[in-house]
Amino acid sequence: MQTNPQTGDTNFPLNKMEALIFNVLAETAAKTATEIYVIGGFVRDLYLDRPSKDIDVVVLGNGISFAEKVGQKLKTNVAVFKNFGTAMLKHADLEVEFVGARKESYRANSRKPIVEDGTLEDDQLRRDFTINALAISLNQTDFGAVVDPFNGLEDLQNKLIRTPLDPVITFSDDPLRMMRAIRFATQLDFQIEQTAVDAIKSQKERIKIVSKERITDELNKIILAKKPSIGFNYLFDTGLLELIFPQMAKLYGVDIIKGRAHKDNFYHTLEVLDNICQTTDDLWLRWAAILHDIAKPATKRFEEGHGWTFHGHEDRGARMVPQIFAQLKLPLNEKMKFVQKLVLLHLRPIVLAQDIVTDSAVRRLLFEAGEDIDSLMLLCNADVTTKNEYKIKKYRNNFELVKQKLKDVEERDQLRNWQPPISGNDIMETFGLPAGKEVGVLKNAIREAILEGDITNSYQEAFNFMLQKAKELGLSPV
Ligand code: CTP
Repeated sequence: MQTNPQTGDTNFPLNKMEALIFNVLAETAAKTATEIYVIGGFVRDLYLDRPSKDIDVVVLGNGISFAEKVGQKLKTNVAVFKNFGTAMLKHADLEVEFVGARKESYRANSRKPIVEDGTLEDDQLRRDFTINALAISLNQTDFGAVVDPFNGLEDLQNKLIRTPLDPVITFSDDPLRMMRAIRFATQLDFQIEQTAVDAIKSQKERIKIVSKERITDELNKIILAKKPSIGFNYLFDTGLLELIFPQMAKLYGVDIIKGRAHKDNFYHTLEVLDNICQTTDDLWLRWAAILHDIAKPATKRFEEGHGWTFHGHEDRGARMVPQIFAQLKLPLNEKMKFVQKLVLLHLRPIVLAQDIVTDSAVRRLLFEAGEDIDSLMLLCNADVTTKNEYKIKKYRNNFELVKQKLKDVEERDQLRNWQPPISGNDIMETFGLPAGKEVGVLKNAIREAILEGDITNSYQEAFNFMLQKAKELGLSPV
């Protein structure tokens, strides 16, 4: 095999199972006199030393019948997709996909190409990026040789996303590739070649023929990368963001009135997002970071003597979450509710950190955040983007104080998964009441008394308090 330019190894670092599959493929190729190559993402990831479980094999001939022969040898079932002319088998944790070499041509209104048989080079040319068009020969004459007609290896070294064809054609043919270019740049920390960036700018409207689900799949991959701001900067600069997620693009910009400017909420959001990515891999907590200030443009006011304000942006933002999730085809389930809750509460720990922290304020926060208190604290920490050393220190110190208080209050009052010590049923039974307003009034009064610290979170104190409160309402036990 050839030298890996990144590691200097003379052999690719194949693990045992991959080496076994490569050998079976090569043997079958020799026996059937078929020319085959491993191609695409697997080859790219070998060079980048990234784990990859999908091996794509391009067959110069019939991909399906070749796959069946490999399946017999491995004693594995082969799934055949006749309509696509492809076949797939699984071996251990690897998925091997077989396809005949193709030549593709596209029509204006669809991502589905017209496919014909082609040469290896035709097949490489139809692929999205030079780094995804690399092929390794599994043929006897040159086993292990890398076939790289578009200098993909050089692009790997130069950390460059480049298309084999004119990028205008590549992106217009399959507009999802604009998202893929930005996704790969983000995941791999590569740059997109300038002509390709320009091509995205000119072809951006074509994204409209791509399904929302596929766009969001790519967006989520960007968000799950180590530094998602790389991708969001590309999305914004090319104009794609405005088309796929306009609410986020609206965060961009600074207004100045009477010499007073507010911060640019787009770049602030990116900083918060990158910050939180250092502390969590959770996609939904990362979404909460993206959406925490989403309603700032809608709530922005300039108040005389005060400057810029964004009153109620947390509440308005939380109310925007379901619509944004629906628009992006994100799940409308408990994940959405989690994001909504975090957007709604994102200012609360900061406010606590600025003020003298009272027990009751901490208790209320714990009550409202419940299980998600730790996530909320991570979001708030990430939200501190000031460059003022003094302010940073102050926030961090106060945060520690809030955290300590949260811990104390939690240990004492067990409010994280709070269940009322007196249930609605208890109230109805004690006073012989039907379900109705009075039951609610008593329940609320008990909860408020606990949160305010007037009584402890215990059955006995809550019961006594209830009796006293009921008396005020003219109720007596039956
Ligand atoms: N491909 C392409 N255009 C697309 C999608 C895929 O040209 N819109 C080609 C690329 O050569 C790519 C290969 O098909 O390497 C396999 O695609 P896929 O499995 O989607 O991506 P990978 O490159 O393997 O990367 P990842 O698994 O991270 O998505």
